Order: sequence, then C-alpha cells, then structure tokens
Amino acid sequence: MFNKKIKSVILAAGRGTRMKSELPKVLHTIFDKPLISYVIDAVNAAGNIDENFVIVGHEAEKVEKFIMSEYDNVKCILQSPQLGTGDAVNRAAPFLKDFDGYVIVICGDTPLITSETINDFIEFHNNNHADLTVMSAIYENPKNYGRIIRDKNKKFIAIVEEKDATYEQKAVKEVNAGIYCINWKTVSPGFSCLKSNNAQSEYYLTDIVKWAVEQNLTVQSYILENNDEIFGINTKLHLAQAAKILNKKSLERLMNEGVQIIDTESAFISPETTIGADTLILPNVYITGKNKIGNKCKIGPFAHIRDGAEIGNNVRIGNFVEIKKSIIKDNTNVSHLSYIGDSELGTGVNIGAGTITANYNPITKVKSKTVIKDGANTGSNSVLVAPVTIKEMASIGAGSIITKDVEAYSLAITRAPLKCLSNWVKNKIEQFSGRTGEK
Ligand code: UD1
Ligand code: CA
Repeated sequence: MFNKKIKSVILAAGRGTRMKSELPKVLHTIFDKPLISYVIDAVNAAGNIDENFVIVGHEAEKVEKFIMSEYDNVKCILQSPQLGTGDAVNRAAPFLKDFDGYVIVICGDTPLITSETINDFIEFHNNNHADLTVMSAIYENPKNYGRIIRDKNKKFIAIVEEKDATYEQKAVKEVNAGIYCINWKTVSPGFSCLKSNNAQSEYYLTDIVKWAVEQNLTVQSYILENNDEIFGINTKLHLAQAAKILNKKSLERLMNEGVQIIDTESAFISPETTIGADTLILPNVYITGKNKIGNKCKIGPFAHIRDGAEIGNNVRIGNFVEIKKSIIKDNTNVSHLSYIGDSELGTGVNIGAGTITANYNPITKVKSKTVIKDGANTGSNSVLVAPVTIKEMASIGAGSIITKDVEAYSLAITRAPLKCLSNWVKNKIEQFSGRTGEK
C-alpha cells in the first residue's frame, strides 16, 4: 500500500424524491439493513480510510440518529438547503482544511459497492498519480446516469447529466458511477467555482471534471468490470432490483460453501449470514441480519430468521417458525408454527408446535430472556412468559402458560383438568328435536 491518508465523504442529503416516500432514501432497507449502512460498511472494510463524513440534509435528524447509533468513526455534516452533489461535497471542506491526502466521494444510494472495488479504485488512482479519478461503467441502458464525455482523442473531459445531455451525448454508454477519488489539495479549490446554470439548477459534483481539465490536472476514469456494483437506487423498483442482485450473490456464495438451496427464487438470505455445509434450505425462507447457522440443519419451508441467530448443527427450523436473537444448540427441533425470540435453547430440545416465547412487554418495552436447557421439551401451544428458565429434561404439558422457572426432569402443566360430560351432545339433540318447524 502507499503512504497517503484517505478519508471518505458519503452523500446522503438528497430528498430521494423518486422514492415517493416519507422515509429518507438512504434509510430504505435491503434485508432490514439501510442503504447507507451498506455504503459505510464497504468504505470501512476498505483499507486505510481513517475518517468518514456523511452529508445529511433531508430528514437529517433521522439519518444522523441512525448513523450515530451504529458507527463511531463517522461524522455527520448538515447540508441545508440541498443545492446539489457539488455543494454537498463542499460542506465537508471546513473539516478537511489543509488535508493532504485522498478523499473518496461516494453516493449513499449505491449499496452494492464492495470494499475490494473501493481498494482497487484507490490503488489505480494512486498508481497513476492522478488528481481526480471517476469510477465509470458501461451500461447498455444508461438512462438516469451522467455520461462520461471524451474528446476526439478519447481523453476524458467532462460528465454531462442526462437532463442536460444532447441527443448524441445521451447515446454514450459509459456512465458516471458516482464514486470519485480526489487529491484533496489540488482539486478541492474547484468546489467553490461550481455553477448551477443547468437543467436542475444544482451545483453538480460532476462539473468538477471540467474544472480540473481546465486547470490541467490529471483526470481519468476507472472503468468497472462488474457494473452491478454501482447500481444507484432512485426508485422502489431499483430497490427491489438491487435486493435481487444482492440475494443472488449471497445464495451463490452459500451454495459454493456446500449449502443446498432448493429454490433460489424464493430463498432470501442476507449476505451477513453464514451457513454450514449440508444444510438444506427449503422454499420461502427469509433470513435477514447477521446470523450463524451450522451444518446439516434443515430450514423451512416458510421460515423467518431475523438477525442475531446462532444455530448449531443438525437443527430443524420448520414451517412458519420465526427466530430472533436466539442461540439454538445442536440437535434441537423447532419444527412448526413457533416464535423463539431472545432465547437460549440447549442441545436436543424439542419445541412443540405453536410454542411461543413471550419476550416483550409492550407497557414497559422491556424484552426478557427465555432459557430452555438440554433435553427439555415443550408441548404444543405452550406460552413461555419471559424471563423464565426451563431446566434440563423438563417437560411442559401442551397448552400450558409458564410464568415460573421449571425444575429439571419435572412436568409443568397449567391446563384446566379435562371434563367429559357423557351424552351431552345427545341430550342437546333430543332437547331441540321437538322444536322442528320453529324459526
Ligand atoms: C448522480 C450523478 C450522476 C451519476 C449518478 C450515479 C451528479 C450531479 N450526478 O446522479 O452523474 O451517474 O449519481 O448514481 O452528481 N445528494 C446530496 N445533496 C444534494 C443532492 C444529492 O447529498 O444536494 C446525495 C443524494 O442523497 C444521493 C447522492 O447525492 O445519495 C446522489 O444524488 P442523486 O440525486 O441520486 O443523483 P443522481 O441523479 O442519481
Ligand atoms: Ca442516484
């Protein structure tokens, strides 16, 4: 690697008008994870970037609150009003005074970018001693993207936005990915020279290219091979398309690692889930967040695992089962119609159909833990009201509501005793049979 400091500026202040939503664009999620998190995580996983600035504006408090709760190496900078991407980068200038290194500028709405690509991009910029490198890609249908404009000698001279492009320029298939590597010292003076005399009356970041060319700075483009990575989310359709791309990649990785997936069209598994070899994923499984699932498990059909699951080997998570933030050890079965949340299940546990761990008190908003020790079992339709512990080998009778800890090897049952009223039905029939003809 080289000896340059690198910082990032992530643009997330725009309204995201085309999403037609009350929610800021960058807080829209794929696998329950906001778009901005995908970008911050990719930047953080790329080597050497020591400080990140996120430009917030539209619904700034919401975006900032989320970022502050998740990251401690990110500073949010307010851009108000939102005057365009060029103005957005300029908001970071006061924090980068005298900075003599590279600044990676990246849009907060490109969740598919990987840290490998970011690293490669910075390396390319550094090796070529460039002042400004713009990431580009070739799109058959370049609609919505800025076009990379070259002169007769193929020299990269400008970026023109779709809305400002001439008919000929619109035909250009090389597009601006919205990711830039900037030699801050030489290029940053250009940000205060940008003009807003364009179709959107905005200060375009893309105009920095023309400025840098005029100053005789070294400007180049880095053409990305896998153009999926720079897919920008502007609409809800784009969001669904990006989720598909991310899921496809995630399923391919899992299958390469020995996981069997019956139906790749209906299985959705987050990229942050690891699954051991010979685990079988049945149709309609939805797994979000960070989870670890062992070998030889059987998951689904119709199972929902919702973040923070640690599942051992040879575990069965069956039909219409939801698992959240729970540890489930080897050889345990949760086969049908159950909710297991904030729980710890030992080995060889059997959870009867319709067992619910009642973990949440909506009045106090407190979530409590359920512990079920090795070899214990619950009968069908049991409710375990947390905090509660079911000790080793204990048994819960079907239909019970468990509000106290249950001792090892004992049976706990809260069911009302069964009454059997002989001939009750027969008597009713006789009682009503004399009344035929009545309405
Ligand atoms: C932008 C680029 C375009 C490129 C495309 C790639 C410009 C002018 N155009 O277009 O060349 O092909 O990205 O995806 O840069 N934002 C702010 N403050 C603002 C305006 C926008 O922070 O005042 C943020 C948005 O929140 C968003 C990002 O900048 O994350 C890009 O803005 P967006 O409006 O989506 O730009 P595009 O039209 O997609
Ligand atoms: Ca965009």
